[in-house]
Amino acid sequence: MARGIRVTVGSLLTALLVAKCGVAQKKFVTDPASYVVPFIGTTAGGHVFPGATIPHGMVKVGMDTDSSQPQAGYDADPYYNVIGFSQLHDSGTGGGLPMMNFKIFPVLECSSFQQCGVTIESRKIGRKLLADGSPDDFASPGYFASNLTNGIHVDLTSTRRTALHRYTFPAGTAQPRIIVDITNDGARSAIEPFMKIDPESTTVTGGAMYGASFGPGHYKAYTCVTFKGDGFNLGKPTEYGAWLNNNPIIKSTELSQFFFGGNDQGGALLTFNPAPGGGPTSILVRVGVSLISTDQACQNAAEEIPTFDFEKVHTASRAQWNDLLGRIQVDPTGVPEETVKLFYSSLYRTHISPADYTGENPKWESDEPYFDSLYCNWDTYRTLYPLMSLHDGATFANIVRGMIDIQRHEGWLPECRGITVQHYIQGGSNGDPILGEFLVKFAEQAEELGVDVDDLYTALVADAEHEPANWNLQGRQANAWKQYNYVPIDHVFSGGANTRQVSRTVEYAFSDFAISQVAKVLGKDYDAKKYAKRAGNFVNVWNANMSIPGVTAFSGMMQPRYMNGSFSFTDPRHCSVHDPIGASCYLDATNYDGFYEGSPITYSQYAPQDTAKLIQLQGGAEKFVERLDWIFDQNYFDATNEPSQQIPYMYHYANKPGTSTQRSRQIIAQSFTIATNGLPGNDDSGAMGSYAAFYLLGLYPLPATRQILLSSPYFSTVSFYNPVFKTTTTIKTKGFSGNPSDGKGGNVFVKSVTVDGKPYKSNCYLEWDIFEKGSTVELTLTDNINTTCGTGPGALPPSLSTGGYN
Ligand SMILES: *[C@@H]1O[C@H](CO)[C@@H](O)[C@H](O)[C@H]1NC(C)=O
Ligand SMILES: *[C@@H]1O[C@H](CO)[C@@H](O)[C@H](O)[C@H]1NC(C)=O
Ligand SMILES: *[C@@H]1O[C@H](CO)[C@@H](O)[C@H](O)[C@H]1NC(C)=O
Ligand SMILES: *[C@@H]1O[C@H](CO)[C@@H](O)[C@H](O)[C@H]1NC(C)=O
Repeated sequence: MARGIRVTVGSLLTALLVAKCGVAQKKFVTDPASYVVPFIGTTAGGHVFPGATIPHGMVKVGMDTDSSQPQAGYDADPYYNVIGFSQLHDSGTGGGLPMMNFKIFPVLECSSFQQCGVTIESRKIGRKLLADGSPDDFASPGYFASNLTNGIHVDLTSTRRTALHRYTFPAGTAQPRIIVDITNDGARSAIEPFMKIDPESTTVTGGAMYGASFGPGHYKAYTCVTFKGDGFNLGKPTEYGAWLNNNPIIKSTELSQFFFGGNDQGGALLTFNPAPGGGPTSILVRVGVSLISTDQACQNAAEEIPTFDFEKVHTASRAQWNDLLGRIQVDPTGVPEETVKLFYSSLYRTHISPADYTGENPKWESDEPYFDSLYCNWDTYRTLYPLMSLHDGATFANIVRGMIDIQRHEGWLPECRGITVQHYIQGGSNGDPILGEFLVKFAEQAEELGVDVDDLYTALVADAEHEPANWNLQGRQANAWKQYNYVPIDHVFSGGANTRQVSRTVEYAFSDFAISQVAKVLGKDYDAKKYAKRAGNFVNVWNANMSIPGVTAFSGMMQPRYMNGSFSFTDPRHCSVHDPIGASCYLDATNYDGFYEGSPITYSQYAPQDTAKLIQLQGGAEKFVERLDWIFDQNYFDATNEPSQQIPYMYHYANKPGTSTQRSRQIIAQSFTIATNGLPGNDDSGAMGSYAAFYLLGLYPLPATRQILLSSPYFSTVSFYNPVFKTTTTIKTKGFSGNPSDGKGGNVFVKSVTVDGKPYKSNCYLEWDIFEKGSTVELTLTDNINTTCGTGPGALPPSLSTGGYN
């Protein structure tokens, strides 16, 4: 069985890196975890996981409810009942209900063991309500609690692969009972479940094969559950037995005696003596999880939580969060507390996924780290990894190492993946810009961080050059891309769905840009030129003659194209809120329109590597601005999906950064709050969280480059401590006077920039060197929106066609 060795990069770094002098970081916020609101996005389709996890923990222990689409288990609407407290979740995803394996559930009363209602339908129960009508649930980093209507209080915390639950039964409870549920994952998909109760050691072990959320195939998961009295000796269970549906069989120890049909439910039920003295009874339940075996699940539990010390586990988890979140400091003076909460909550959600599954990969043996819940790279490559570059390069390096190891064993980098199963590809091969982001930012530290640079490059080239047997699950339509320099709409290639050809084309171009950036850093000049050329291929799906029905002010659109070079037609409004036929543009194999989760209008703005070229295609800066304004004013900007995320910042390239500042602030004002419905759409594994965090910091990243677009932060001062460089960079504002609540106007526009006291070449972007060496950036603010990037040759942010990135 594979059993990886966990390399602690932190200690390696301490040993290898000579401490560099950096500016000491001023701590404005010492307990950033206290500003995190985990419930943001837990109603209205946000699908956020609010339970307990360490940063990037494999175990994410939380409440599951019976709402119709509980992708992360929980629903903040108290109308829904609680059906269990399970160990594995994703956060912010779509797809089928992922994971939610091994639900634990407390039972207050049954007339007899045999009469206990143990199925989901029989056991489900409501939550107490608070005065404002919300459920009596509490969550903070590393901790979740709830009061059920029957008076049972639930507490949850966790380590990387083990959950610790505490069920406190009310005083006078005669027979506290606990259910262990083996079959009910989110999708109720268990195949060949097995379970064993050892009454001597009071241990329940079990597992099954379960269905994946967004791809074909299954994964196996195993658990090891043990019990302890909190403050008293729990002893052995007074009753125990396996159950099939609502039939607990006393003293039975295995599920295997039952015949399992497709919809059957099964697990264990245990009865304990109450705590002596008649007061409340608290039972600790330690749940180890493994994807390898029940033995390993037991070992994980014993190693990670040897003494069942709830406060110790919780304190250690919160300390990890505070260390991580505290690396980005914001001065809360002069802003509402809600803004600070919005920032730290957004940063927090950047670190829930991907999850560290090191040592739990059943597919091959390796000493490399293994991260999963890459769900999906399509969502996260734009903002999540660039945010990690600023303050968590060591974890980023481990994720990159895990991705390279997947390529070594499966042939291509992962694009979308959940709990070891390949998931469906949404567009391009977006592992490429993630690896590019890492190498362009950390080339000098890559080796110290354990990243094999040659293998990283080999992995990128595999995506770019080799077509997989099935591009629905990995790689690209590489042959079509190389033959036509776009993905034609009419050629029926075999090997995957012939859909999303335009969005694939623009994403392949961006991925090849990332590869060219890496090639350049590695001194591979021929490849750098070759891939930079391919990065320009987005122009091949630009139809200059296409305009929006009824709009004469501008023309030119990304459009589907035939093999013979002539264009097909997709209404530019397709997939937008104004789509006359109300089409969807998801993974549907009948989607012949060429686009994925974005309209042609949105994709016509997507070429972050060469915005100058887009401006040229769109008829110059003035027309470009006119089009951007039209997109916002006519409600074509779609905050719910990632392809739109850069659009508010694109005015920078037309030398109107003030407008970017205002547009981006309006998006925050309209679409992001700290309420349970405070997200536009799904959080997408932290994609929306990292996006909001960047906007609040007054920055927007260009992945796989050494430039970051600059606006003004929502705070008078923000600072970044980067443990890889051991440096701190501070961005200070002169003239800060708060933020307009609707995002309009205010003394928020950047008039001039100095770096370490010297006038800087641009008001519109910062070079990565600034963050590398640790600098003080000072922004002078004005209330005049008509600011510019500056007048010198380096004032505008770079674009490929105007000689940028060289
Ligand atoms: C649950 O009830 C207890 C006792 O009344 C209270 O202290 C606690 O704040 C309540 N809420 C949660 C989520 O624990
Ligand atoms: C656009 O229209 C012009 C004039 O009708 C024509 O010459 C040109 O070839 C067309 N371009 C494309 C890309 O269809
Ligand atoms: C190109 O191919 C498409 C689809 O087969 C066809 O409709 C169109 O007429 C062709 N154009 C030319 C110029 O041959
Ligand atoms: C900014 O420019 C616009 C358009 O030229 C103009 O109407 C507006 O008055 C200017 N604003 C200020 C504060 O100068």
